[in-house]
Amino acid sequence: MVLQAIKYTRGQLEILDQLKLPHAEEYDHIYSSTDAWHAIKEMRTRGAPAIAIVAALALAVELTNMKLSSVAEEVQVFIIEKLDYLVTSRPTAVNLADAAGKLRKTTEDAAAKEGASGDSVREAYVKAAEQMLVDDVSDNENIGRHGAEWIVKNTEAGKKGPVSMLTHCNTGSLATAGYGTALGVIRSLHSSGSLKHAFCSETRPYNQGSRLTAFELVHDQIPATLVTDSMAAALLRLRGGSENIAGIVVGADRVAANGDTANKIGTYSLAILAKHHGVKFLVAAPRTTIDLNTKSGAEIVIEERPGKEVTLVKGPRHDGVNLDLAVVETVSIAANGINVWNPAFDVTPAELIDGIITEVGVFEKDGEGKFHLQEAFQAKGSD
Ligand code: MRU
Repeated sequence: MVLQAIKYTRGQLEILDQLKLPHAEEYDHIYSSTDAWHAIKEMRTRGAPAIAIVAALALAVELTNMKLSSVAEEVQVFIIEKLDYLVTSRPTAVNLADAAGKLRKTTEDAAAKEGASGDSVREAYVKAAEQMLVDDVSDNENIGRHGAEWIVKNTEAGKKGPVSMLTHCNTGSLATAGYGTALGVIRSLHSSGSLKHAFCSETRPYNQGSRLTAFELVHDQIPATLVTDSMAAALLRLRGGSENIAGIVVGADRVAANGDTANKIGTYSLAILAKHHGVKFLVAAPRTTIDLNTKSGAEIVIEERPGKEVTLVKGPRHDGVNLDLAVVETVSIAANGINVWNPAFDVTPAELIDGIITEVGVFEKDGEGKFHLQEAFQAKGSD
């Protein structure tokens, strides 16, 4: 069975509640943009592409099921207000702002057409939002293929035989419309027989690695091992050779024009480790994550989340032998009263990144150490 974080048919949207994973697989109905805003803020749905698609489709569902004005301009105003509101849910991932910008343009163009009506504007919006769901899956499959081919060709490990890779956070089917970005690269290595082993880091404090990536790897029966974030250096030093580790592959929430990349907190430390150990550090992301309007990482707004995500852990009751899925407990793991800093993302400087894997190919730096990411938008297709 294929893992599906987003289930959509016209007029109906459900999301897999990622706060309950890996212990329970429960879907929540999303009826409106307000529902989506809360689901994104509370991280019931997360991951840069998934956030954008859920927001876009939630408004499509709301528009499909509501009694709409017949006046095109009134529907246009309604859509734009909702898009502006959805964008406020989480600040760092650019995919949501990118999707909102494109949907705004579609709406304005539809409303400006000769003979436009409320219905025609709605139809244009809904179709464009639905297309985003379709495009994301095919983009991810292409990212996976380009990334896997690049790793096999361009790494010492790849030339020797099946490689191992370390990944961070969750970038798989749960973070996208399907297949995933960095985890898509690992899926593609696996399906082409080029993967020896996948390692995933726990990803404190929210544990997207242990809860979600580990869940996807087990689900797909990909040979994989979980490590805590603090074990990555030891993994590269002690098992890098025996496991034939080619490198580290991560996703992105926003890639600035110069290649600086905001991604889940802990990514920056992994990039430093990769450099020290002489293995590749790769970012896998669709072009919707590249933000040419942001010149460098210094301009990226980093979301700070509540301290309780660091001090409290939540899970089903465990008596040492059995799990009781019916009882979810919250346990404090820090001294009461301690101050907490909880940035959800960090920025990895471009100088530490060997390649940016997109659906149209892998972008590397020139001889002077500079990425030219505008070329990603000039590229025609994926082949
Ligand atoms: O806070 P999250 O879980 O939304 O953070 C997710 C990440 O940082 C991912 O690496 C990124 O969004 C890419 S997902 C394809």
